[in-house]
Amino acid sequence: MYRDRIRLKSLWGKVMGPEEAALLIKDGMTIGMSGFTRAGDAKVVPLALAERASQEKIKINLLTGASLGSDIDKQLTEAGVLARRMPFQACPVLRKAINRGDVMFVDQHLSETVEMLRSRQLPQVDVAVIEAVAITADGGLVPTTSIGNSATFAILAEKVIVEINLHQSMDLEGLHDVYIPTRRPHREAIPVFAPDDRVGIPYIPIDPSRIAAIVVTEKLDSSSTVLPPDAETNDIAGHLTEFFRHEVRKGRIGTSLLPLQAGIGTIANAVLHGFIDSPFHDLTMYSEVLQDSTFDLFDSGKMVFASGSSITLSGAKGKEIFPQIGKYKDRLILRPQEISNHPEVIRRLGVIGINTALEADIYGNVNSTHVMGSSMMNGIGGSGDFARNAHLAIFVTKSVAKEGAISSIVPMVTHVDHNEHDVDILVTEQGLADLRGLAPRERAQVVINNCVHPEYRGLAQDYYRDALKRGGHTPHLMEQAFAWHLAYQRDGSMLPRRKAAE
Ligand code: COA
Repeated sequence: MYRDRIRLKSLWGKVMGPEEAALLIKDGMTIGMSGFTRAGDAKVVPLALAERASQEKIKINLLTGASLGSDIDKQLTEAGVLARRMPFQACPVLRKAINRGDVMFVDQHLSETVEMLRSRQLPQVDVAVIEAVAITADGGLVPTTSIGNSATFAILAEKVIVEINLHQSMDLEGLHDVYIPTRRPHREAIPVFAPDDRVGIPYIPIDPSRIAAIVVTEKLDSSSTVLPPDAETNDIAGHLTEFFRHEVRKGRIGTSLLPLQAGIGTIANAVLHGFIDSPFHDLTMYSEVLQDSTFDLFDSGKMVFASGSSITLSGAKGKEIFPQIGKYKDRLILRPQEISNHPEVIRRLGVIGINTALEADIYGNVNSTHVMGSSMMNGIGGSGDFARNAHLAIFVTKSVAKEGAISSIVPMVTHVDHNEHDVDILVTEQGLADLRGLAPRERAQVVINNCVHPEYRGLAQDYYRDALKRGGHTPHLMEQAFAWHLAYQRDGSMLPRRKAAE
């Protein structure tokens, strides 16, 4: 049956088991693997590699599109295979290894990795391992549920291992749009002028002589781990809907808004879900991950087109959507992540970027990655690609975490991913702070009034009042700026002891 999917007959002899294919990967190599937010991962070859590492010392530098599913990062970490990992991850086991300093993690803007590879600012990719639904008659690779960085990995790698996944629907063929920017200097403009513009070809063009192995698999993508909307995320969605109504009333955007981008995770998915009950229509997305909410918006008739780099669905939604993906094909495009996240295109389209903060400060600086300033959570992902270049850079977060022991709005963030210059709108379930055109002293008061949880509002106001006495363009009390974080580390709560005990 797999032979139907390998249309270049001269490649039939390259079919082998995952263990044999994994032998092409040697100690010290740089490996580029497909996979973006648990979708379209190469699955069986990396797991065979982890198995081999129990007999033999092998360390690799692993590049992917974004996070992986199927416990691949977990197994590779436990087998001690990962020396270096980039540009994103979301695996609790790998996260711990990164924070112990056992794995060197390079947290990168997702649009940049392949640009750096092409310009030889990163080590050459020795082997690419790419999941595909099929190989075309001229040796091109048809990706599965994501493209991520797969196209450039396959084009640049010395050798390519292809995992043909029989479980992935043949209806995915034709969904992808592979466009590789021309070399710098004198690069041509990327000709994407609307989310539904197709500008490339529907497969990854490579020289078939570099396909060194083909492995056949039926292993499923892992489903997404996002939780359903709750009262707080519904409130955040409500504040955003009200804000967009205001923007429409002011004539700044139309009732179809502008192309939407929503980040990974529970909050962003829930916020997008909130558009189902909004007055807006004919919505489009120019995003990277397409989650359950995208398909709910299609089905509710609210969304007309979505462009992304991967489709990552919950178990139930995946069972419903993938068997009938053909039905959605004329409303979807999957692009390489350097195009889905390209600053040029995001700025041109005027994308509305909605991403999640771990914490934000009273001036609007956002930390999306580091817990208590030190421990990596997942990575910056595409949030910086979008926030810097968006028409509106929106950050959402619940106002408190860990049952109120942590305020997500703090005097000063302990790590900056998105600085105040990139953040237009900050939203919690408490309300929305419109920071556009405001100076730091104005921003602080709006954030305190609108976004801080009532338990922390007085504390934030006291900090700001005392900081104002010290003066400055962005008033701070350096000796107290991290006092809340220190209290959490000492007492298990950012609230003063008396208040926490009440
Ligand atoms: N300090 C410490 N922990 C915090 C915190 C804070 N200020 N705020 C939230 N958390 C914890 C939560 O308690 C939760 O912990 P748990 O997993 O132990 O329950 C975890 O962080 C996730 O928070 P949650 O509220 O469930 O949000 P989420 O699932 O939407 O994820 C991010 C939020 C920030 C971790 C996630 O969106 C992310 O990694 N973003 C960066 C990448 C990105 O934005 N990509 C966008 C383009 S795809």
